[in-house]
Amino acid sequence: MKVLVTGGTGYIGSHTVLSLLEAGHDVLVVDNLANSSRESLSRVQEISGRTAVFHAVDLLDEPALREVFARNSGTEGSHSRIDAVIHFAGLKAVGESVSQPLRYYHNNVSGTINLLRVMDDYGVRTLVFSSSATVYGESNPVPYIEKMEIGANNPYGRTKEQVEDILSDVGAADSRWHIALLRYFNPVGAHESGRIGEDPLGIPNNLVPFIAQVAVGRREKLMIFGGDYDTPDGTCLRDYIHVMDLSEGHVAAVNHVAQKAGVFRWNLGSGIGSSVFDVLHSFERAVGHELAHEITGRRAGDLPAFWADPSAALADLGWSTSKTLDQMCQDHWRWQKNNPQGYTTA
Ligand code: NAD
Ligand code: UD1
Repeated sequence: MKVLVTGGTGYIGSHTVLSLLEAGHDVLVVDNLANSSRESLSRVQEISGRTAVFHAVDLLDEPALREVFARNSGTEGSHSRIDAVIHFAGLKAVGESVSQPLRYYHNNVSGTINLLRVMDDYGVRTLVFSSSATVYGESNPVPYIEKMEIGANNPYGRTKEQVEDILSDVGAADSRWHIALLRYFNPVGAHESGRIGEDPLGIPNNLVPFIAQVAVGRREKLMIFGGDYDTPDGTCLRDYIHVMDLSEGHVAAVNHVAQKAGVFRWNLGSGIGSSVFDVLHSFERAVGHELAHEITGRRAGDLPAFWADPSAALADLGWSTSKTLDQMCQDHWRWQKNNPQGYTTA
């Protein structure tokens, strides 16, 4: 297939572009580079020996997006035509979404509406969307299953929920759409080559990128947000998933929905809850020594514990995770150690 990947220079996008190229698909990338570097695609090319065609386009610029589809609009089934879209492009920082809600709704929701309109006009109706476990909100019991009522508790999460609603309505209105809503749990790690990985701008919001920057000497110590939760060691439990398992989940999903019309929801997680200390100790094993840390107050909005029930993805897609927390930390560390300043060292 010829797959257009929005947000394809970003963290999960670049790993998925690699998996798609390695699976034999042709890939076009659309990204405005708001939170990423083109260098990621040069490295993907170096690893795979294949090239993804890059277009520096903002989804909010509908004419420019239309032009990409116009240039790839052969007859159905022909080599020049886009067969499917995997849509990663979006802003993802929860705290920033609270202070800049309009920017988040505009970028994530309006950007997606532009994409859907252009896809529809060009008859490209196969879409895989990056949703998030955050749509399950605060009141669902764990593990999360796809049929639960959703209700996010912050603007970022609500952009995901709104796009899920829009896509459900689009699929209900027109049976020619083939749509996968993938709810990711906590992606970490990097490709085993250590050539591509997560490269956050500024202070990392998420746990593993923060630990990695402590390990490489960019931050003094990890602040653990709360040690008094009702969990085995007092810290929160999350379902960490290796980014390569996640990228392979996308390949499985796009292959599946390409053959099947409708709107489908799948959790992509391991089904295992790990605590902040589990992750810290695993990372310390990868690095070979202890890392400075201190327990501080809880972070607003954090839930004590959640993880996926991943059985629907196994039953429908034949997909499940294969990599352990230790492999996630080893691979994340290899990337960080070899690229202490991320892609800017290139
Ligand atoms: P990322 O920031 O590394 O990648 C997102 C990419 O989208 C970036 O390259 C950015 O430049 C691009 N982008 C943003 N707005 C754009 C626009 N208007 N037009 C064109 N490009 C645009 O983030 P990621 O971690 O790779 O996440 C990918 C997707 O997965 C996002 O939609 C995110 O919300 C979702 N997600 C991420 C996580 C996570 O923990 N990383 C968890 C659940 C869901
Ligand atoms: C966060 C987002 C969530 C998003 C997810 C994946 C919030 C409130 N939630 O969730 O919407 O879907 O990332 O991108 O931001 N931790 C520390 N110290 C740190 C960083 C994190 O102790 O410096 C702890 C957190 O309290 C949490 C765990 O580590 O218990 C994981 O945190 P994080 O990586 O931010 O992921 P989530 O909390 O699951």
